Amino acid sequence: MPYTIEGLEKSRKTGFRPRNIFGALLKEFLDLSDNLQILDAGCGTGFFTRIIAEQCKADVTGMDINEELLKGARRIAEQERLNIKFVKGDITDIPYENEVFDVVICDIMLECFEDITIPIREMKRVCKEGGIVTAIEPFYQMGFEYFSGMTTDMRDLIIKFSRADRAFGLGPMLPEYFKKVGLKDIDMVSWFWGRIGYKFLEFETIEERLYDMQDNLERIKRFLPRSKSFNSSEKKRIIHFYEGRLKYFRENPDEMANDMSIRGLPVFIVRGFK
Ligand SMILES: C[S@@+](CC[C@H](N)C(=O)[O-])C[C@H]1O[C@@H](n2cnc3c(N)ncnc32)[C@H](O)[C@@H]1O
Repeated sequence: MPYTIEGLEKSRKTGFRPRNIFGALLKEFLDLSDNLQILDAGCGTGFFTRIIAEQCKADVTGMDINEELLKGARRIAEQERLNIKFVKGDITDIPYENEVFDVVICDIMLECFEDITIPIREMKRVCKEGGIVTAIEPFYQMGFEYFSGMTTDMRDLIIKFSRADRAFGLGPMLPEYFKKVGLKDIDMVSWFWGRIGYKFLEFETIEERLYDMQDNLERIKRFLPRSKSFNSSEKKRIIHFYEGRLKYFRENPDEMANDMSIRGLPVFIVRGFK
């Protein structure tokens, strides 16, 4: 799957906020403190790496296999004046000796692997005795979406649409895999990756909001005809629904400020000790 710097940053920024609260949760749950060696494996643009580096004066390294994403990661961290090292490396063959890091984290990337015990074992290998291995993974199949005033029937269809053609989501299965590779005292907390008043509250101007809705509609129109999950009448109803919302807000732009549409899914943060 091709990842873009802009796409990764946007989805993380909107899904993990307030950023300071998410950071505080990571700090407490992973016992982050100064003087630790921390590795974020499969860091992409380094969104989570930066959150970790904000929480403590630890020695933080982000690693990814994709050089383009790493370039973006270096640029953004520099802009935010965060001191993070970004290195190229494969999580199935991490370029470090055994037992180098106090905390080894990976976020929303295990779904790239058929057998996730391979990357988890590697994370464990580079983790010190008594250190923490942790993974953040969503549970896409519990994704939900709600718009004001929608009928139950329409809601069922839109929920099916928001879950369609996506990976199942590894979140709830992580403890089992952590146990399988011999991690101990496994524990888990969850986060709500979502948006309330979504599509509307995060834009400065009404034009920007409408543009985003239009963009989303065009994406749906491109994606739906190819989807095997819906029959042609369902496809028409979904497109009609989003077209109707766009038309409504074009004609009633002031209503956007009060919109209470909700979209989200649970994300699990699982930790285990070596
Ligand atoms: C969905 S992105 C997640 C990026 C980042 N962790 C985040 O949540 O923003 C998956 C990332 O895994 C990286 N990746 C895939 N296979 C990898 C591997 N074998 N070793 C290291 N990184 C890998 C991709 O380059 C990509 O940056």
